[in-house]
Amino acid sequence: MCGITSYLGYRDAYPIVINGLQRLEYRGYDSAGIVLVDDEHNVNLYKTKGKVSDLKEIAEKNNTSGCMGLGHTRWATHGIPNNENSHPHTSNSGNLVIVHNGIIENYDTIKKELLTRGYTFKSDTDTEVLVNLIEEVKKQNNCKLGKAVQMALTNVVGAYAIAIFDVTKKDEIIVARLGSPIAIGIGEDNKEFFVASDASPFIEYTKDAVYLDDEELAIIKLGRDIRIRKINDDSVVETNVQELKLNLEQIEKGGYEHFMLKEIHEQPKAILDTYRGRLLADKGIIKMGSVDNNIAKFLNANRIIIVACGTSWHAGLVAEYLFEDLARIPVEVEYASEFRYRNPVINKNDIVIAISQSGETADTLAAIKLAKSKGAFVFGVCNVVGSSIARETHSGAYTHAGPEIGVASTKAFTTQITILTLIALKLGNLKGELSNSVFHHYLQELNLIPAKVENLLKINSEIENIAAIYKDAPNCLYLGRGYNFPVALEGALKLKEISYIHAEGYPAAEMKHGPIALIDEFMPVVVIATKKGHYDKVVSNIQEIKSRNGKIIAIVTKGDTTVKEIADHIIEIPETEEAFSPLLTTIPLQLLSYHIAVMRGCNVDQPRNLAKSVTVE
Ligand code: F6R
Repeated sequence: MCGITSYLGYRDAYPIVINGLQRLEYRGYDSAGIVLVDDEHNVNLYKTKGKVSDLKEIAEKNNTSGCMGLGHTRWATHGIPNNENSHPHTSNSGNLVIVHNGIIENYDTIKKELLTRGYTFKSDTDTEVLVNLIEEVKKQNNCKLGKAVQMALTNVVGAYAIAIFDVTKKDEIIVARLGSPIAIGIGEDNKEFFVASDASPFIEYTKDAVYLDDEELAIIKLGRDIRIRKINDDSVVETNVQELKLNLEQIEKGGYEHFMLKEIHEQPKAILDTYRGRLLADKGIIKMGSVDNNIAKFLNANRIIIVACGTSWHAGLVAEYLFEDLARIPVEVEYASEFRYRNPVINKNDIVIAISQSGETADTLAAIKLAKSKGAFVFGVCNVVGSSIARETHSGAYTHAGPEIGVASTKAFTTQITILTLIALKLGNLKGELSNSVFHHYLQELNLIPAKVENLLKINSEIENIAAIYKDAPNCLYLGRGYNFPVALEGALKLKEISYIHAEGYPAAEMKHGPIALIDEFMPVVVIATKKGHYDKVVSNIQEIKSRNGKIIAIVTKGDTTVKEIADHIIEIPETEEAFSPLLTTIPLQLLSYHIAVMRGCNVDQPRNLAKSVTVE
């Protein structure tokens, strides 16, 4: 939602913090700010509406010295994006400076109380209320900052990751978390520390990191070990230092114009990395420790309930077809945001699968907690290692797609489908629904998918040509059936989120029940018409659109001649099993959205109003 980064040590803080903010900008980008404290305790605070590049321009015309820095890139929750509402926020005395990711739900009550005590506020944010609450608690109790933060947070309702320091001291930062992620990088001999929403801002400086858990507060002081406490009961938490596996190359653009394009092109490798060591096609085995260890639960599952949001929810819909078709297990796919506020019926022997790229989506996390409270076994499919969802679930499988920086999800989607395909195939075989020979055939076929995706990516320029024709369309429809109905939804979501063209996905046969009224010569309709997927029916749907002058962009199996005759454009995908076709049909739709968005001059990697991980509900 928002990105936090901070440095405390012996180097110049500015370049570290500003680069860190640029790496975290995918988390929020409507405003940004930085505070720097130099050796003479001079405090320089720069904030602006807009991008980190705008902040950079302002800061670099001024003093950026100091070995203590704190920065923030914002996705507005309370208060519109403007200079005043940007973080960092200072307390009334000017001594305390804070950055915050999350929402303080009871900020209004706290603010009223502070107003009666004479506090004044420059912004409309909940964060400025929090920093003043901490100041008031510190004053009243005459205590150290760490203690004051801890006491203040026990009065707070909501979610937060915060970093705060006292500008009159130059050796201490306090960080705390409830519901929003925070990582601490530790320099050699504790001579420097880094704080960030994820580890990407500090990977070139240290591989030693500590991830705070919910309700934990860390006191970071130069020259000594980090001290972590539970916020509510003050108990001491052992510091668990982890070795980071991330490298710099993984989070850079690697010659591509945008992260999204890079991530689209990474899919052959990402899919391979996801099934590496799991899919042993030659041996006819799928090996997945987390499934094997819970195999009785999976085999006895009466029902699988999938909870997720956005693109991950679309991956869940593909999984519904996979589990029902291959393993004959009934599936329900739920928006996590709806599930968490219903009173869902969860029976013994139901399994809940939570899907999330970031592993931090607030609604998915809340849905998991609800499912657990009702006794369900919860299995996570996450990309970000060590994320909140990965930790909250009973068991799970990582997708190993590598960092996804582009806000529009691409490789996360196909790798989520890959994991879910592996599980469905494995269960289908163990349940006797897939004979060994069919199962082995599927494994061989799945093993070919990365190479097929690689081939498919070669038609990039053809798709660019199609994009040029439709870039100014105000609306677009996406149609698919069966396994490719969720792909149609995903194609439409990709287009609307990055190009701001209104787009809708529909099951092809639903056209006649309403959307067909929209068809005229200005309406592009993207239809997924693969050979094994109710092909004849989809061809009839295409005819219906054509006879109303709609423009057809058809995704067809290589060698198709029938649709070629009718469609305005065809995009060929290699032949595969219908169950695996989403892994291929998705690719041209990602590229189509990408090129249209670029041609419309949109910010592809950071579309307006969006944030990469939605850590508030
Ligand atoms: C769309 C997109 C979002 C996310 C959604 C869930 O391109 O990225 O719809 O899929 O916010 O995020 P995760 O998967 O991190 O839980």
